Amino acid sequence: MKIPALSEAEALLDEAAALNPGPWAAHSRYVAEAARQIAQRHPELEPEAACILGCLHDIGRREGWTDMRHIIDGCHLLAAQGYEDAARICLTHSFPLQDIREAFGKWDCTQKEYDFVADYLSRVQYTPYDRLFQLCDALALPAGCCLLEKRFIDVVLRHGFNDFTLDKWRATFAIKEQFEQEIGCSIYDLLPNVVETTFG
Ligand SMILES: [Fe+2]
Repeated sequence: MKIPALSEAEALLDEAAALNPGPWAAHSRYVAEAARQIAQRHPELEPEAACILGCLHDIGRREGWTDMRHIIDGCHLLAAQGYEDAARICLTHSFPLQDIREAFGKWDCTQKEYDFVADYLSRVQYTPYDRLFQLCDALALPAGCCLLEKRFIDVVLRHGFNDFTLDKWRATFAIKEQFEQEIGCSIYDLLPNVVETTFG
C-alpha cells in the first residue's frame, strides 16, 4: 500500500494537531485504535496499515477550521507525498452511500473541487479499508469509542439532518453487521472503554 510508516503518520498527526488544535485529533487517534482492533480480527485487513490510515483520515484539518474542505485538503496533502491509499481514505470515509449529497458538512470549496469529489465517488470501487473507516469514523468521539447511535446523535446535533441522514445511518449499520460477520464477534467486544464512553 502507498502509505507512510506508522511513526511518520503519528508525527504528521502530531504536527497537524499543533497547527490546528481541537477535538479532531483525539477523534483521529480513537479511529486509528478502533481500526487496528477490528483489523486484527479481519482476514483481509492489516492492523498497522489500518492504524496508519486512521491517524491520517482527517489530516486535512491541519489547515484550520474548515468544513468539507478538510477531506480535499487531506487528499491533496497525502497524494502529493505519494501516499495515495491514505489520500483515498480522506475522500471515502464520509460516504457510505457513495453519494456526495450525503455529506453532513458544508462544501466550503470551489465548484471544481466539489466536482472532483463527486466524480471520484461516482467511479471508486470501495475496498474493505474504505468500509472500515466509514465505520470507525462513526464509532469515535474525541473522548473515545462509543455506540454508533451516540456518535450519530453527536454529529446530527452539530450539523443537523439532511435527506440522506437516515439512509446513511442504515448503510453504516449494514457495514457494522458485515464486519461482525467477517470477524466473528461484536465490534463492541474489541473497542476499549466503549461502555464508559457511551454512558459517561
Ligand atoms: Fe473523522
